[in-house]
Formats: sequence, structure tokens, C-alpha cells
Amino acid sequence: MTNTTKIPFVDLVTPHKELEGELLAVCKRVFETAGFIGGPEVEGLEKEFAEYCNTKHCVAVNSGTDALRFSLVAAGIQSGDIVVTVPHSFIATTEAISQAGAHIEFVDIDPRTYTLDPEKLKQYLELWCVQDAGTGRYIHKRLRKPVAAVVPVHLYGQMADMDPILDLAARYKLVVIEDACQAHGAEYFSKNQNCWVKAGSVGRAAAFSFYPGKNLGACGEGGAITTNDEEIARKAAMLRDHGQSKKYYHDVEGYNGRLDSLQAGILRIKLRHLSGWNQQRRASACIYDQLLAPLGGSVICPVEPDYAKSVYHLYVVRTQFRDELQKYLADAGIATGIHYPVPIHLQAAYASRGWKQGDFPNTEAAAHEILSLPMFAGLAAEQQKQVAETISEFAASFAVS
Ligand SMILES: Cc1ncc(COP(=O)(O)O)c(C=O)c1O
Repeated sequence: MTNTTKIPFVDLVTPHKELEGELLAVCKRVFETAGFIGGPEVEGLEKEFAEYCNTKHCVAVNSGTDALRFSLVAAGIQSGDIVVTVPHSFIATTEAISQAGAHIEFVDIDPRTYTLDPEKLKQYLELWCVQDAGTGRYIHKRLRKPVAAVVPVHLYGQMADMDPILDLAARYKLVVIEDACQAHGAEYFSKNQNCWVKAGSVGRAAAFSFYPGKNLGACGEGGAITTNDEEIARKAAMLRDHGQSKKYYHDVEGYNGRLDSLQAGILRIKLRHLSGWNQQRRASACIYDQLLAPLGGSVICPVEPDYAKSVYHLYVVRTQFRDELQKYLADAGIATGIHYPVPIHLQAAYASRGWKQGDFPNTEAAAHEILSLPMFAGLAAEQQKQVAETISEFAASFAVS
């Protein structure tokens, strides 16, 4: 046993070494033109990422959080509107909702997929929504606010079950904004459309993060909005640039939310490798599934329903002995993560909202039991074997199998 990490949780060094020549050429090109903000690199990325996601438009911004916030505002979410999402996500999901001026409401996740449970959304809407005879909008009976949007989170690289969510959204006149920050390239089989559809192409708009550790990551901050709605794209492009439609003519008050050209150029190079990297992640997930299968129910592997092709941003197992397993792996030099240890509704930041333990049991149980194993493009089968052997050793010594 040693304390030195032998198997990292993620390897961000190797891909940059492999692409060093191309990435440095981008820097050189940008330095030579000194076009640091906007320009051909950003426009090129927007065109290519829209093509990758099968959408008409892409608006590059400086983070996934801004992408989500601008999407909500551009889609017409107003101060006081209710936006429904899940408490099992990174806090950026709810930060964006609040900062768009909206009121956060939660529904619980499906414990198998860790994404929004459409049945729970249905129950919430049936219980709380009543149609206003004048406007036709659905109003929350107790809060007396319009229920305006839903934000399904495609967590860990797997899309939420979108058909029933879209059906409910149509029935209750909700705008659907996908939080696709962890799901670049993920796919969903839509029975409604009878074909596979890409993350980012399903809702009115979607938000992606290009944070360095993401499947498509910048060498700094970055994000993007994808949409088929021209008006949303136009408004989002204004919001990211101080609300201006023309230089120094500000139609609305906006933000400084632009992506810089260096990041855009770097992302364009990496985008060419994204499909290959995602395939490697899917192959690694398959290897983990096989290696961990003998442990039966004691260490539960991720579930990929028939409707999903996950891109395994994270490979998350589940066990009642999570903390002990994490320590055992750390002692063996294997790095892991927990995404996320505290559900959003129980975060100190939201204490004033009065949510309490027991409000969202599936999320709370997951937060205690989930563990993210090493997962990245380039993870070697030998490293995975070591991870699985160490987990099996742990299971035997704790007699959990
Ligand atoms: C699910 C989810 N939503 C939103 C975000 C926010 O993205 P960013 O960090 O680029 O602002 C993240 C980033 O980790 C995320 O995982």
C-alpha cells in the first residue's frame, strides 16, 4: 500500500501532450492576429459544434453556468417564474436558475439513472399546477407563480428520459432547457421521433460546459448554448456581449459572457477527437461492467437504459460502503470522486428555502452511496483491471459480496 496516486481520476496531461503541436499552432495564429475576443475561431467553433450537436445554432459563451443562465433568460424566463429541476446535480444548475430571477423547485431523480424521473415530474405537475383561465398558463397553487420551465440534467454523460419529459412539457406549456454540461455527444432514442437524437438538440435550448475536465474541455473556462430557435440564439448572443446588438448600442442590460478566441481555437482542435474519445470512454465503461459484474449487488454498476448511449463523463458505482471503499482505493493509490456528496436542497446556500432531509429520498440515498471511478479517454485496460481487483479485494475483506 502506498499513498502515491498510481491511477489518476482523470488524466488531463496526456491529451494535451499528444495534441501539443496543433494546440500551439492555434496560439501562434491567435497571437499573430491579436484577435483575442470573437472572430473566426469563435465563429468556427460555433458552426462546428452546432453541426456536431445537430442544431441550427450554437452560441459560445464563457462557462456552462452562463450558458444555462442565458438560455433561460433568452427563452423568456422571467423574475418569479418557477423552474423545475433535480437536486442531484452540480450547484451551477440551480445558480443559473436563481440568477435568471426564477424560483427553484425540485423533483427527485430515478435512482437507477440518477436523472430526472418523469413520473415524479408528472406527480409534481398534477399535484401543484392549475391552469389560469385568462392566460392559459399553469400556476403553482400554493406559490401563485407560473411554472415556466424544466431543466433536465444529463448527468454523468447520460441523457434524461426525454420523451415523457417533452410530452409533459407540451401539456403544461413548459420550456425545456437541457443541462447538457456533462453530456457532449450523448444520445437518446426518441420513440416519438423514432430515431437517435443528440444531447443539446432536444429542448428549446441546451447548455454545455467546456470546463477542462469535461469530455470536450477547454484550457480554461468555456461553455456553449445550442438551439434550433433563431430568436433564442440571437438573444443569447446579445446577453453574452453586454446586451449589444451593434457595438455600443445596448438593447438590454447583458453580461460579460464571451468565450475567448484561444479557447475557441483549442476547442475546435479537440472537437475533432471528441467522437473517438467518447468511444474510448464507452469501451472503458464496458470493461468496468464486465470486471465488476461478479460483485453482484454489493457494488452496483451504472445502468444504461435501452434509450441511452452514455458518453460516460463519469463512471459512477454505488455501494453502501462508499466511504470505506473510497479510502481503500486511495490507500492503494487509486483516485476517485463523489459527484455529489451533498444534495443541492441540503446545501447551506439554500438553508433559507427550508428544504429538509427526507424531501428527495432518491437523491439523498445516492449522495451517500455513489463513487466515481477513474474514467478518461486513454484509461488503460490494465489500470481498470487494477481498480476492479482492488474493489474485489475490498468486497472480500468487508464481506460485502
Ligand atoms: C451538471 C452541470 N451543470 C452546470 C455546470 C456548470 O458549468 P461551468 O463550470 O462551465 O460553469 C456543470 C459544471 O461542472 C455541471 O456539471
